[in-house]
Amino acid sequence: MTEASNFLTEQNAREADQRRADGPGFEGPYLVVENLHVSFPTADGTVQAVTDMSYSLEQGKTLGIVGESGSGKSVSSMAIMGLHDMKRTHMTGSIRVGGREIVGLSNNKMQSLRGGEVAMIFQDPLSSLHPFYSIGSQISEAYLAHNKVSRSKAKAKAVEMLDRVGIPQARSRVDDYPHQFSGGMRQRAMIAMALVNDPKLLIADEPTTALDVTVQAQILDLLQELQRDFNSAIIIITHDLGVVAEMADQVLVMYGGRAVEHGPTKELLTHPEMPYTWGLLSSVPDVTADTSGRLIPIPGNPPSLLNPPSGCSFHPRCPHRDKVPGDLCRTELPLLVEGTRGPEHLKRCHLANPDMIYETEVLPEIAPDLVDLTVADGADHVAPENR
Ligand SMILES: Nc1ncnc2c1ncn2[C@@H]1O[C@H](COP(=O)(O)OP(=O)(O)OP(=O)(O)O)[C@@H](O)[C@H]1O
Ligand code: SF4
Ligand SMILES: [Mg+2]
Repeated sequence: MTEASNFLTEQNAREADQRRADGPGFEGPYLVVENLHVSFPTADGTVQAVTDMSYSLEQGKTLGIVGESGSGKSVSSMAIMGLHDMKRTHMTGSIRVGGREIVGLSNNKMQSLRGGEVAMIFQDPLSSLHPFYSIGSQISEAYLAHNKVSRSKAKAKAVEMLDRVGIPQARSRVDDYPHQFSGGMRQRAMIAMALVNDPKLLIADEPTTALDVTVQAQILDLLQELQRDFNSAIIIITHDLGVVAEMADQVLVMYGGRAVEHGPTKELLTHPEMPYTWGLLSSVPDVTADTSGRLIPIPGNPPSLLNPPSGCSFHPRCPHRDKVPGDLCRTELPLLVEGTRGPEHLKRCHLANPDMIYETEVLPEIAPDLVDLTVADGADHVAPENR
């Protein structure tokens, strides 16, 4: 091979690498997160906010991320948006969006993705709305950043979006400033801003917490509409397992910065295999069911991320740790492995027979009616003493 053809081959390889890095033509899930670690060096030590997180999400599908406050839900999602200040953050692992690696991507390149292909509805509306600019101009700017249209067209789009998220008299409210909107209206304006470019991946971080139930239902419908129309992938972060049950195809449960259970929604909610997930389910009030089940809060506090517990980080709070032989729960970190019901359902727990414990001990306590019902149905959710 001549020097010139050598050079051309290398150039072709470089161009192919670049095309791969630039995205189009990728195969597989739209979002692939692999071995993501995010930590923050602070004066008190390193806050290990996210540890070894991996998951993927196909276009047109929804992933629900649940977990208590401080478990790393927002930090892991903000990493996908490239929103961490890299001077104060240590991040390793891989995040591929539409085939493009974004860990280490320059801010300029990240900006061309952010708000366009990938958008986020933030947990705190005030943090993403600028107080000095009108709501309409902020939505228009988000549209203009990714579309070559006139300002008047962009403003018309802002009115349309405000109308779609249920702001009454959108045309006359479009020039209002954020302080002139109520908290719920600000949240809806932010949703309008996130949806204005029909993102392929939408991260919705507690999108409906400040809203009343009727508006909440409208917003969830809007997200589902976006998904139907544009085949968008959605990550919905929520404390509300009802929202997860309605919206999500897959659920990922986080505890202390780690994924502790992950699987298809129906499977995970009906056959959870990790005691922390049992705790989450036990602490959800069910106002619709005529149930004699008890509401059982998870005892203790979330783990320190500066100095996490040894072994399983849930062990100081886990009522089932004595069922594991030896001192394993305290000394050895359980791996995220296949549960008892197949390869799609992963759990991080040393218990050998979590399905049995859930059916015989946990379910009768939190939802005895469900046990009775499944007895009547002859379903597989029956406590052994009732079989
Ligand atoms: N910039 C930062 N510097 C130091 N620690 C941080 C920083 N950002 C987040 N953290 C810490 O990382 C941990 C995870 O935070 P994160 O915001 O992801 O929690 P969360 O699961 O979204 O909680 P919530 O449900 O309350 O929103 C918390 O302990 C938080 O204090
Ligand atoms: S590994 Fe042990 S401490 Fe952790 S959740 Fe399972 S039983 Fe509980
Ligand atoms: Mg959060």
